[in-house]
Amino acid sequence: MVVLITGGAGFIGSHLSERLLRQGHTVLCVDNLDNYLYSAALKRENVQLLSAYPAFIFVEEDIRNKMALRQVMLDYGCEAVFHLAAYAGVRASVEVPEKFMEININGTLAVLEAMREAQVKTLVFASSSSVYGDTTPTLFKETDAAECPISPYAASKRAAELLAYSYYSLYGFDITCLRLFTVYGPRQRPEMAIRKFIQLILDEEPIELYGNGQTFRNYTYVADAVQGFMKALEHSAEGFRVYNIGGAKSIGLEEVISTLERVIGKKSTVIYRAAQAGDVRHTAADISKAGKQLGYAPVVTLEEGIRQYMKWLMASATPVNV
Ligand SMILES: NC(=O)c1ccc[n+]([C@@H]2O[C@H](COP(=O)([O-])OP(=O)(O)OC[C@H]3O[C@@H](n4cnc5c(N)ncnc54)[C@H](O)[C@@H]3O)[C@@H](O)[C@H]2O)c1
Repeated sequence: MVVLITGGAGFIGSHLSERLLRQGHTVLCVDNLDNYLYSAALKRENVQLLSAYPAFIFVEEDIRNKMALRQVMLDYGCEAVFHLAAYAGVRASVEVPEKFMEININGTLAVLEAMREAQVKTLVFASSSSVYGDTTPTLFKETDAAECPISPYAASKRAAELLAYSYYSLYGFDITCLRLFTVYGPRQRPEMAIRKFIQLILDEEPIELYGNGQTFRNYTYVADAVQGFMKALEHSAEGFRVYNIGGAKSIGLEEVISTLERVIGKKSTVIYRAAQAGDVRHTAADISKAGKQLGYAPVVTLEEGIRQYMKWLMASATPVNV
């Protein structure tokens, strides 16, 4: 199959590209190697790695360039799109909300329009658990209203889901939105918590825990997140569907720190801080719908995932602290 991945040079997109290439698919990766949120050098490394596969085609382009996207789809006979390109991250979205709206909403519109014009109707969209906001104390279910986002990032992801729904309704697109829960692992974005904590423990510097360490997340190892995307493609059929894609259970920040200490073999020093604006206190995924309908089942425990990640970091040519 010929598939187009937006954001394929990034963290999750590069893993998804690799899995698809290994399974014999042709991957058209559209990424502008954005340098704002983290270094483009890391994305170039990912592109270089993927270029070892003859069926990998890299197009350095901005997703907002609808004409270019459409042309790539037509030139290569694209059959399905994975849309991952975005500005990701809650805190950055509080600082530069305009950028998040521009890329996450207008960029998604350009992807949908290019698909319409090129007659490509299957889309898997990388949404986020942040759409649930900070209001639901129990397990997040896809049937929750998700109408109280508490950051521009969350609002942009929910808006993109709704925009996608309108293309399903108007043009009969087959759309799967995957609400991803805190993904981690090799090639992770350098500003994300687990990556930062590892460096601080190695450097024997204090870790600042926001939300007084009382936050909970459904940490998802990247290979499990990729499993979610692959299952979504396998089960694509006409319709609009939303699935939670998360790790097996919600885990507290203090357990994450103690797991990191155990794997690294060093103790940390922790400083407790108040929650930061836009941060959700608890995320807890109900993944039963993805389990029943897609056969999705996360297999990597937090400890095993951190071990794999550490192994990669230690072998990586890239300095841990980028
Ligand atoms: N990592 C997580 O924990 C997580 C959780 C929930 C949702 N998501 C979503 O998954 C997707 C991938 O996240 P990630 O962690 O791999 O982030 P990432 O920043 O590593 O990847 C995003 C990629 O999109 C590219 N990009 C950004 N703007 C672009 C533009 N205008 N045109 C073309 N390419 C552009 C970037 O260069 C980057 O390579 C994002 O949509 C993100 O919102 C991630």
